[in-house]
Amino acid sequence: MPNRRLIGSAVVLVVLLAGAAVALTADPPLGELLGETPRAHELMRRYGCAGCHEIPGVAAARGQVGPSFEGLTGRIYLGGVVRNTREGLVNWIVDPRALAPHTAMPTTGISREEAQEIVDYLHR
Ligand code: HEC
Repeated sequence: MPNRRLIGSAVVLVVLLAGAAVALTADPPLGELLGETPRAHELMRRYGCAGCHEIPGVAAARGQVGPSFEGLTGRIYLGGVVRNTREGLVNWIVDPRALAPHTAMPTTGISREEAQEIVDYLHR
């Protein structure tokens, strides 16, 4: 007859491991729950980026208006018009319509310094 306490302990262990797995993959991510939100996250919410883009690691950033930022660093062109360098990315974020007059992405009013912080985060 199997040892009931042993089975009980195993069940508890499985539940704890499952809980830990959920905590690690949770949305918002654990870092955010612990109050370690990078300032870039805050900026991407404040300027509406999160409303239009899906941003990996940023809670509630599930926008479907523009492309997801998943794999962004590997892309060659931004908006199909500007090379995806750090400089190009900052320029795009600050004033996309200066680069692509007909783009659906609006100029959000974000400053160059703030855009640089987002780029530091996205290109890290
Ligand atoms: C109203 C919706 C909207 C908002 C707000 C918005 N974007 Fe966009 N974004 C778009 C759309 C639509 C595109 C696709 C543009 C195109 O291809 O012409 C885009 C494209 C981009 C791209 C290029 C992606 C690629 O793969 O080509 C980046 C990077 C980007 N946005 C970053 C941002 C950041 C950072 C913010 C916040 C400061 C922001 N966006 C705010 C809609 C938005």
